[in-house]
Amino acid sequence: MAINWYPGHMHKAQREIRKILGEIDLFIEVLDARIPYSSENPMIAQIRGDKPCIKILNKSDLADPVITQAWLEHFKQTKNTDAIAVSAKKPASLKDIISLCRQMAPNRGEPGKPVRALIAGIPNVGKSTTINILANRIIAKTGNEPAVTKSQQRINIGDNVILYDTPGMLWPKVENENSGYRLAITGAIKETAFDLDDIATYAADYLVEAYPDALKARYQLDEFADNGYETLELIGKKRGCLRAGGRVEMNKAAKILLTELRDMQIAAISMETPAMCIAEQKEVDERLAEKAQKDAERKKQFKQKRR
Ligand code: G4P
Repeated sequence: MAINWYPGHMHKAQREIRKILGEIDLFIEVLDARIPYSSENPMIAQIRGDKPCIKILNKSDLADPVITQAWLEHFKQTKNTDAIAVSAKKPASLKDIISLCRQMAPNRGEPGKPVRALIAGIPNVGKSTTINILANRIIAKTGNEPAVTKSQQRINIGDNVILYDTPGMLWPKVENENSGYRLAITGAIKETAFDLDDIATYAADYLVEAYPDALKARYQLDEFADNGYETLELIGKKRGCLRAGGRVEMNKAAKILLTELRDMQIAAISMETPAMCIAEQKEVDERLAEKAQKDAERKKQFKQKRR
């Protein structure tokens, strides 16, 4: 499904969460372990205040274990936050979530006084799969499809812990262009919204930098080209994606690289590290602050002119 981020859908999620905020003891945010920063929903951080939060780094079977460890440490250093790496493809890895919920809300977790945890995640991070495993049964999806207007669900997952699942779509980061690329590369945002050559070029650039040996081994490259686009061209040549006249069919090369990256045929790959994201977020914040200042000045000038 191509995701359209209509403001209406986004506001519905926000409204529903605000409505039940007072009843909630903690948040569970399901993230994609390959992109724990880019798959966060920016509204959750705002709305949550000081409430405890468990970051579930799902799909850790696809991510680089060393970088996942760095993310876990990063989140654990954050106030009122704990983190756990899991894979919904390996249900046993989820077994500690219930006890973690109980630890995060020590004054609850008794009969008649259950821990109430709101589970949130942008589409495709594996929230439904996670809920189904925790609940030990199939629970209908609440809100990724705009047409679905199911209301908020409460799911008893045992041990006096209740999950609140809210309808409405949660959107990913939009202010950081890098996040957009990474969401497209990992498949969270469907390709139709992007130019395939463009995202594969971004992926090639990143892989040359972060996983050079794995990339060389997979495509039998001795050297890389000077930039991601030309490296993608080399990959295309190796895989016989050639048009008449010997030109590389870039679209085909892009598909091969992205498919094999997602299928872990290159390596278990993480697309971002805590250090990268801290630096990027700083830049985004500075840019937004500058823009806010310019807007304020423009407004002031406009008012003065009208006097
Ligand atoms: P959502 O509710 O957050 O939108 O996500 P959902 O659970 O529907 O999962 C989205 C896709 O991610 C599904 O694949 C699911 O199987 C896959 N997935 C979820 N958790 C994990 C995980 O820990 N590891 C891996 N490797 N994949 C995971 P799909 O292609 O849409 O469906 P299918 O492959 O299950 O048929």
